[in-house]
Amino acid sequence: RASDRQALLAVLEEACRFYSGQLHQSEKGRVAREYIRSRGLTPDVVESQRLGYAPDGWDALLSHLRRRGISQDLGVQAGLLVASSKGTFYDRFRHRLIFPITNPEGKVVAFGGRSLDGSEPKYLNSPETPVYHKGRMLYQLGAARQACREVRQVLLVEGYMDLLAFHVHGFFRVVATLGTALTVQQVRLLRRMADEVVLVYDGDEAGRRAMLRALPLFAQEGLAASCLVLPDGMDPDDYLSRYGLNAFLGLLEKRRELVRFAVEHHLSTWNGTSQDKARVLRDAQELVRTIADPVMRQEVVAQLADSLSLPQQVVRQQLFGYPRTR
Ligand code: CTP
Ligand code: MN
Ligand code: MN
Ligand code: MN
Ligand code: MN
Repeated sequence: RASDRQALLAVLEEACRFYSGQLHQSEKGRVAREYIRSRGLTPDVVESQRLGYAPDGWDALLSHLRRRGISQDLGVQAGLLVASSKGTFYDRFRHRLIFPITNPEGKVVAFGGRSLDGSEPKYLNSPETPVYHKGRMLYQLGAARQACREVRQVLLVEGYMDLLAFHVHGFFRVVATLGTALTVQQVRLLRRMADEVVLVYDGDEAGRRAMLRALPLFAQEGLAASCLVLPDGMDPDDYLSRYGLNAFLGLLEKRRELVRFAVEHHLSTWNGTSQDKARVLRDAQELVRTIADPVMRQEVVAQLADSLSLPQQVVRQQLFGYPRTR
């Protein structure tokens, strides 16, 4: 019901104010303030993103909400409190740097919290609630939408810090999946605001795999996708902090179509023998079949044929079971 929605949004807003107050005013917030500085987040970004601090202890927010006459039940529904098996309640976020997650209208709908002392999990996130469906939204979608009115290209990154590092550098055409697998709903949101999505996931095995897994979604939804592979072990935040935005924009010029990245990935698994050629083509089959554009398909066939030193009709035969393109 609409009234429930309003009530949840009001609690989330109240929590956001509380966390922000704790960051700026409390003595305990000092650790978080120092952490923010050490990560290169500027006062501008801290303020515009309303970053906060969830104090240590089990009932900081709980007591605050109680003082405001907000029921524990509502706190639980908003994902802020957790009900214990003994029927008591406690704060979900404790001793963490708080990243509010807003919907495109600017309302706070969820939070992410980063641990400050190396405790696990590194990030804790709000659960799904009636106002927060993580597969149907993207972090910083509102800001990116505005920025994309000029240039219809948007970057897609994995994490909170990756995204905010772009904001620190004055670049706003970027959204984040927050570490979860990309969904078709998210691709549709992206398609409405941009003509090209550039994936800039972490420069590690997990990041590369996640980019490969995203390919079929873009192919199926007919949205151009390209990608950047960052130097080994670096994520966008690391890269921007070390080399700056201009260096990054130079890399961006050298982005590759996601399809080509995928084809090259498959080719890189070839052990160089004749016998292994058929296996490479078998592995690449699924990928090539997701390509709807006939020109792109032909180019991929040509690239595979060239790299494996095979006639194109042999490659087509292996991939599609017939010798000519449709
Ligand atoms: N993530 C999460 N829960 C975790 C780890 C990661 O939800 N336990 C999500 C977060 O949104 C995180 C993103 O996945 O931002 C990417 O994860 P990772 O690369 O491990 O973290 P970073 O964003 O690089 O975090 P940091 O730079 O603060 O270490
Ligand atoms: Mn949901
Ligand atoms: Mn990672
Ligand atoms: Mn990082
Ligand atoms: Mn990372």
